[in-house]
Amino acid sequence: MIQLDYRNVTSEVIGSENGLELQSEFAAYADRIKSIIANLNSKKDKPEQWLQWMNLGYNEETVWYVKEYAAMVQGRFDNILVLGIGGSALGGMAVCEALLKPYWNMLTPEQRNNAPRIFFLDNIDPDQINALLDSIDLTKTLVNVITKSGSTAETMSQFMIVKDRLEKAMGDDYRQNIVATTDRATGVLRQIAGEEGYKTFVVPDDVGGRFSVFSAVGLLPFALVGIDIDDIVQGVKDMDLALKNTDINENIAAQNALIHYLMDTKKGKNLSVMMPYSSRLKYVSDWYVQLWAESLGKEFNNKGEKVNVGPTPIKALGATDQHSQIQLYNEGPNNKVITFVRVGEFDTTLDIPRIFEYTGIGYLGGKTVNDLINAEADATRVALTDYRRPNVTITLPKVNGYSVGQLLYMLEVQTAIAGELYDINTFNQPGVEQAKNYTYALMGRAGYEESANSIKSKMHTNI
Ligand code: PA5
Repeated sequence: MIQLDYRNVTSEVIGSENGLELQSEFAAYADRIKSIIANLNSKKDKPEQWLQWMNLGYNEETVWYVKEYAAMVQGRFDNILVLGIGGSALGGMAVCEALLKPYWNMLTPEQRNNAPRIFFLDNIDPDQINALLDSIDLTKTLVNVITKSGSTAETMSQFMIVKDRLEKAMGDDYRQNIVATTDRATGVLRQIAGEEGYKTFVVPDDVGGRFSVFSAVGLLPFALVGIDIDDIVQGVKDMDLALKNTDINENIAAQNALIHYLMDTKKGKNLSVMMPYSSRLKYVSDWYVQLWAESLGKEFNNKGEKVNVGPTPIKALGATDQHSQIQLYNEGPNNKVITFVRVGEFDTTLDIPRIFEYTGIGYLGGKTVNDLINAEADATRVALTDYRRPNVTITLPKVNGYSVGQLLYMLEVQTAIAGELYDINTFNQPGVEQAKNYTYALMGRAGYEESANSIKSKMHTNI
């Protein structure tokens, strides 16, 4: 199982001004945490609670259908093109980057075991979209369009472009190159898929986008590129069983949620840095940033009081960002909690040859890059601790489906528990909806005319 080390947030290690009296805090919050965990687990099967993501480790039916479809299309496509944004893309990107061989799309078919390349379009930069569509053969591409609402402007505009090009290239056969993942019943994409006869998968009811990575939203693209989804789901399930433990001393998601909550509310440290020391885990930070920001950044609490809460998540990458952000983290405002993610054993051991004896670099020869990245992670952790900056470390024994499943699920539960501590609705996103509605208005969607006029009057540009 993955491990959490929280020693460097305690007052014993970083002093009482910045550190927490963690054992007494754990004792003080034991009952509250117990009831939060029990409550989440007792509500998870009820409709409208948005907790169905807690059941995704047990969704054997989806796993079966995903594997069946992936086996059916195996060998037919050179590329998978995922169209989606936010929660419909970030989990897929994070897991593919972690579990596929690095530089996957540059490998030969043999090196990829004849599995397809995979591309995620999660933005609407016209140059980027055009360049990608011009550089892949769409007739040999399976397009997985993912949107829970079925109407997100970014995703649906991409889809309209891709569908048009596919149809022009393939005639009526283009349908075989599309698979849609969307709500079971509602939304425009569901309607189009029904009318056009696309193969579809479901974003389950009561699973929000940012909690959907272990539904067909993530599992389908993973299976299509040959990732073993059973391993991932097993990691989710085992972590879920571990996190059912209502004792804070035994529950790493509750511990990290409480640490972040107390650091924010008692110590004024409301920035949460996610810093894996593994390039393969780089996009886990992007996924975490969305999960934490959209879930915890809220204007009102559950009592309807205006609170404007939410720790700001920041992504960083070790060792790269030692040469970018660490100066600030060590010496700037002491307002952050840093989460390191470490890898126990890399797949590769890479020797540094003894080819130079110069004083400044000779010591590197004969060591491994593994030694170097681990030394840098240790050095950064000790330096931050010396500067009395709170930091925790999550360790994955290896980067594989089992541990990545555990990590992401643990962070989801941590987010849900933190939301309860802040007493806010973790699962809505009114701020995102507002921006979506403003876009619809500016793009001339029917029903948004009044809003369009008001927005235009506030714009000070004609772009
Ligand atoms: O987490 C969320 O709910 C959001 O980030 C959504 O995933 C994002 O806005 C995309 O929405 P949809 O899947 O409806 O296209």
